Amino acid sequence: MLEDLQRLNRTHAVPGALSFEEGFGGVVARLGSAGSEAVVALQGGQVLSYVPAGSTTGVLWLSPAAKLGTGKAVRGGIPVCWPWFGPHAEPGKPAHGFVRAAPWTVTGAAASQEQTQLTLAFDATAVASELWPYQAQLMLTVAVGRSLKVTLTTANAGSCAIPLTEALHSYFAIGDIAEIGVSGLEARPYIDQLDAGRQKRQAGGIHFSSEVDRIYFDTTDTVTIDDPSLKRTIGVAKAGSRSTVIWNPWIEKGERLGDLGPEGYRRMVCVETCNAGPDIVTLAPGERHSLVQEIFVNNRA
Ligand code: BG6
Repeated sequence: MLEDLQRLNRTHAVPGALSFEEGFGGVVARLGSAGSEAVVALQGGQVLSYVPAGSTTGVLWLSPAAKLGTGKAVRGGIPVCWPWFGPHAEPGKPAHGFVRAAPWTVTGAAASQEQTQLTLAFDATAVASELWPYQAQLMLTVAVGRSLKVTLTTANAGSCAIPLTEALHSYFAIGDIAEIGVSGLEARPYIDQLDAGRQKRQAGGIHFSSEVDRIYFDTTDTVTIDDPSLKRTIGVAKAGSRSTVIWNPWIEKGERLGDLGPEGYRRMVCVETCNAGPDIVTLAPGERHSLVQEIFVNNRA
């Protein structure tokens, strides 16, 4: 690992803005820009933390059991789910695709007055055809500044069309799940994953008093988390995304997951920027598609 770190720092570090270090048992990049900071794991291209300038509390929730290099995706931060969202119809294929626990390659780093940016790549042309019979190149950029902007770009490098579902599966840190409200999805249709996939329509804002697992589809709007106990709102804006998943496992499922920590379900909510459910992206040969999520925070006095 030491050799990797030395090589990465020699090739891509930006003095005062971006460096590579050991963290969570793996290699992470630390990005800083005018008081804002983010940590990104090379495993999965997963953002693990984002603390905006002026905040003492991180915006992303991360499991207290977070450990890289176990072959499993870390729970928390922003896992990248690609090229399918959720479980695969064929047995033996991993839920949420195969890039969230795989190693990504650093291809670029840059810093300006406004932001610091890291670019990673994943070569999906090298994946076994039994797992995924298509040819694609993936690029992920993470830009830290007054906001955190994550862009996942898929380029079809093969000769047939690729059907794609995907997610930037963000876990947000909150004061108490029973107190927050999520807005921006009013009157939108959704698939209730806890009610045999029935289609329903959202009435008003979203509040939590039990497990929630919903794919809101046909929506491009910004979603806002209002958190009275942490006295802040978190905005999740997006582009290239037609679905938003809202998930909280609540008590029983939270215990089954085993990596949330005590009462962990209370301190997290997932607002995921996706193309999922009926929102399938079809990429023609040579075509590119970008899924973009931008997170910004407003602290109340
Ligand atoms: C959410 C899904 O996106 O991810 C849930 O809507 C799922 O159904 C959750 O349980 C977590 O998935 P995993 O594979 O990370 O445990």
